[in-house]
Amino acid sequence: METWDAIRARRNVRAYTDQPIDAADLDRVLEAGWRAPSASNRQRWEFIAVTDRPQLQALGEVWMGARHIPGAQAAIVLLIPVPEEERFVVLDRYDLGQATYAMMLAAADLGIGSGHSSVGDQDRAREILGFPDGYIAAYMIGLGYPADRPLRPITKPDRRPFAEVVHRGRW
Ligand SMILES: Cc1cc2nc3c(=O)[nH]c(=O)nc-3n(C[C@H](O)[C@H](O)[C@H](O)COP(=O)(O)O)c2cc1C
Repeated sequence: METWDAIRARRNVRAYTDQPIDAADLDRVLEAGWRAPSASNRQRWEFIAVTDRPQLQALGEVWMGARHIPGAQAAIVLLIPVPEEERFVVLDRYDLGQATYAMMLAAADLGIGSGHSSVGDQDRAREILGFPDGYIAAYMIGLGYPADRPLRPITKPDRRPFAEVVHRGRW
């Protein structure tokens, strides 16, 4: 897919077919996150790729908005250390947002749907994923081929009017 088409086609996909994701495709999505920019190039993130069905099912328990994860073919969990200074609270989350979007666009480019989820229950997430104390599982991305309709550029996205959001020169 062309970059512009991938940008226009990406949407949250929360229902997936049974088609598995090729390991090379999952690696490409992960690499997109790995290549993402971060403040001062800190790269304070860790990514856990999950394809094991019982683990995916269990991850559905960690957040009320994670109900799509058990049906995904894979999930990528994005983790950060507990911020060492107040100013990193925002910076690290910003960086995770960029990594997330890079992965979602790379997935869309391959025709793979992706769906965000936050993580609420850190203790349960730690049991499932085995990450050390001092880390936070911040977000998850469910991945799989869309069960509803393939990814195609969306003509009328559910967004505030362009002219209301975009200011030129001055507010
Ligand atoms: C920081 C963040 C957290 C989100 N958390 C969840 C979530 O926990 N569960 C979920 O189903 N969607 C979640 N979403 C998806 C948004 O609801 C979705 O991106 C938004 O409604 C726009 O829809 P679209 O992505 O299909 O364009 C999250 C999105 C962001 C950016």
